Amino acid sequence: MFHDIEESIKKRMQYLENLDQKDRLDGTHRMERLRQIPPDTGKFISILAASAPDGEFLEIGTSGGYSALWIALACRLQGRKLITFEILKDKARLARETFELTNTKDTIELIEGNALKYIHNYNNISFCFLDAEKEIYSECYDLLVPNMIKGGILVADNAINHYETLKPMLEKALADERVDALIIPIGKGELVCRKI
Ligand SMILES: C[S@@+](CC[C@H](N)C(=O)[O-])C[C@H]1O[C@@H](n2cnc3c(N)ncnc32)[C@H](O)[C@@H]1O
Repeated sequence: MFHDIEESIKKRMQYLENLDQKDRLDGTHRMERLRQIPPDTGKFISILAASAPDGEFLEIGTSGGYSALWIALACRLQGRKLITFEILKDKARLARETFELTNTKDTIELIEGNALKYIHNYNNISFCFLDAEKEIYSECYDLLVPNMIKGGILVADNAINHYETLKPMLEKALADERVDALIIPIGKGELVCRKI
């Protein structure tokens, strides 16, 4: 998966990494800041996605499409599709450009809109990467878990750097008997849940 990444994907990943780095160095608080995951987290979710059972693959929070590219590596390996949601027009435009330039439009479907309005349409979720505004994590969790299949994997970003804000949702997940869950100290901290 990581040894034969196509040049166009490598190039776009590098471009987005540079853009994200620039945002952080500028200390900008622009709404359109990418706020994307670091490369090691990308590899981590890619390996988890490749190990997920057959079913629907979702991502909540596309931004420029960086994490979607990592998940797409797993989708291509397994012949699956990723559906990713982005609420902001400018971010959706950037993500569309990402999927165009990397020829991943056959693997990644971008839905522009509020993910909360769409989750109920998916009843066989086998993988989901949750990386949106922290205020909606708990609601997303409540909508996603009942619709996940046995062995399905949910990964939520920012479990350590936003621990205090996410605490009620994290504690709910860690105590939830429908899943096995733990927090992994990689990147900004990943909550990983596997549906029982
Ligand atoms: C942290 S960024 C995602 C970074 C991306 N996963 C990556 O690593 O490349 C969060 C994104 O979620 C989007 N977002 C926030 N709330 C959303 C919602 N309700 N539905 C869809 N997208 C949402 C934001 O506009 C933002 O682009």
